[in-house]
Amino acid sequence: MKKPTVVSGIRPTGYLHLGNYFGAVRNFIRMQNDYNCYFFIADIHSLTTHPTPENLQAGVKQVLAEYLACGIDPEKATIFIQSDVPEITELYTFMNMNAYLGELERTTSFKDKARQQPDNVNAGLLTYPVLMAADILIHKAHFVPVGKDQEQNLEMARKFAKRFNRIYNSEVFPTPKPFTFDGADMIKVPGLDGSGKMGKSEGNAINLYEDPKAIRKKVMRAVTDAGPTEPNSTKPEPVENLFTLLKIVSTPDVVSHFDAQYNDCSIRYGDLKKQLAEDIISYTEPIRTRIIDILHDDEYLAKVARMGAEKARESAAKTLNEVKGLIGFKRLF
Ligand code: ADP
Ligand code: TRP
Repeated sequence: MKKPTVVSGIRPTGYLHLGNYFGAVRNFIRMQNDYNCYFFIADIHSLTTHPTPENLQAGVKQVLAEYLACGIDPEKATIFIQSDVPEITELYTFMNMNAYLGELERTTSFKDKARQQPDNVNAGLLTYPVLMAADILIHKAHFVPVGKDQEQNLEMARKFAKRFNRIYNSEVFPTPKPFTFDGADMIKVPGLDGSGKMGKSEGNAINLYEDPKAIRKKVMRAVTDAGPTEPNSTKPEPVENLFTLLKIVSTPDVVSHFDAQYNDCSIRYGDLKKQLAEDIISYTEPIRTRIIDILHDDEYLAKVARMGAEKARESAAKTLNEVKGLIGFKRLF
């Protein structure tokens, strides 16, 4: 039986944080044995925020090293840089012809970004979900492991895939589905500032590359409240968020220990935070050590990128040829 195909990417806009890891990369690692995987660095997507050439290059190198340090194996999965595969941007051009202004303007990610960067509401931002769809469809992906925040973009990719199939009366694209293990919900890792998700642009993130001292400092500063006064009361959002993080990185007995203390009002948030910081460090420290090693090895990084580009282009070219045939680009000479 042929393995189902998986595609996912991350923008190289800084260090990978716990949200990226638990929302996406951890699933990449678990999937690479049983699926035909393409994991890439979305450097073209990152241009919507106008990085300098130096920042762009450093970001790509960092994410590549971090993918490898987390345990993505270039022999098992295809790891590549988006801009190394021009077939993606060609498919993006075609997909743009069937993506409508109204639906693009209505996506929440576009509205959020337009609010965050009102002086730079560029067309790339508007057609961001089209490029993302091209990333996914160029390899005919069946599954896309992403965090909860990408749900709507993925919904758009499904819509564009079905629409293309319908217009050209074909079944060229499978309908890509979000992926989580064991039917779990898509995950949203909260930030340390009391509300919302952990994110690079939110400034509330703990990076995998962070040293233990910085992790302790950030966690100890996380927003809480004065503590429960009534037994078994519901947790306010900042406290709930700390428990969510604890559930992600700690063992179930640690979580129930602090839960019980919360419920009988004996909890001391300082103790919970200390435990949380140490459990985060056990996750990140081995990864950090490997990131440092790999970042020194330019030759290895270049080899991985070259190998990945070659494999990704082979798969991409096949799809693009089929698509061009369907559209009606026939060779006249
Ligand atoms: P960021 O949101 O920090 O800018 P990206 O948008 O490049 O990072 O996200 C890359 C991947 O990480 C996506 O699959 C996204 O869903 C996931 N991700 C990012 N932040 C979180 C989070 N807080 N919780 C769960 N998944 C997340
Ligand atoms: N939009 C995604 C994010 O910001 C990154 C991304 C680009 C992506 N292309 C993709 C994710 C294709 C999955 C599949 O998180």
